[in-house]
Amino acid sequence: MTTIREIAEIAGVSSATVSKVLNGKDQNISSETRTRILNIAEKKGYIPNGIAKSLRIRNTKTLGLIIPDVTNLFFSEVAKGIEDAAANHGYSLILCNSDNKEIKERTYIKILQEKKVDGLIITASHSNLGDKLDSVTTPVVLVDRDVKIIKKVGRVTVDNVTGGRLAAERLIKSGCSSIVHITAELDNKPAAERYQGFTSILAERGIPLDKSGLHTGYFNVETGYQGIMELSKKLEFDGVFCGNDLIAIGAIKALRELGKNVPADVSVIGFDDIALSKYIDPPLTTIRQPIYKLGGSAVMVLLGMIEGGTTEQSVVLQPELIERMSCR
Ligand code: RIB
Repeated sequence: MTTIREIAEIAGVSSATVSKVLNGKDQNISSETRTRILNIAEKKGYIPNGIAKSLRIRNTKTLGLIIPDVTNLFFSEVAKGIEDAAANHGYSLILCNSDNKEIKERTYIKILQEKKVDGLIITASHSNLGDKLDSVTTPVVLVDRDVKIIKKVGRVTVDNVTGGRLAAERLIKSGCSSIVHITAELDNKPAAERYQGFTSILAERGIPLDKSGLHTGYFNVETGYQGIMELSKKLEFDGVFCGNDLIAIGAIKALRELGKNVPADVSVIGFDDIALSKYIDPPLTTIRQPIYKLGGSAVMVLLGMIEGGTTEQSVVLQPELIERMSCR
């Protein structure tokens, strides 16, 4: 079995230099030396020629994607947009699901680098992932959720503040006078931006929203269900702005159990417009995010960084109100 030491002797360099080249950490090593080492390693069968080839041209035509919750149709639709666009440009995709766990995100960032992806797209579940991403040597694009970071990165997001304003305006148009809000914890950037847009309209229209009318948890069905049960113990309300469609699905179930008719007694509006939203009863009025386009745009920004040499780019897409049957 060939060893790094043997390759080093033949190439006339140190073992450290050989391992740097074989791990792609060879920024300060001349391409002549790198090629010589790779040729010897390949001839000696130390590395398969596929890897040798990609180390030579230093791209694997593979992209990495980390999403917080693959069971949420929003993220699977984003992933589909990314996978389709990547495939159209000759790239394959490694998909990682972090289960909203920061430790898993950090592990996947490390694994994807070891797998020599040419670029990384991530929807971070926690906003303090910047330090880990700063160490990533390949281009990075943040999709949907921003992260405080020093490294120059691409960003593709939706104007959530406007989305929150659209939701508030629609509920006021329904004649709602007491509106509550159920969403994810407000350290989640999209949740905070939607809340900001929502409260700005209520303030402009003189409709009170006190803290007791806010319930926070996760972007899931359970938070919607629990939110209604909690809020209805404290308040009478005739409108609910849900931070995403899964929350709205849980909220509608709880309202029905409490004998409330949607929309006659309580108007409900969601956010995302995942594929299921038009099939629930009643079909959900919601704020649509261009989910598939979010994914495709993230790939175009990333390829611009990988192949075009751009260092950073921000794309902000617009939400729109989708009228169905859950609002009066
Ligand atoms: O449904 C998941 C939510 O989390 C979406 O609204 C999306 O914007 C993400 O941040």
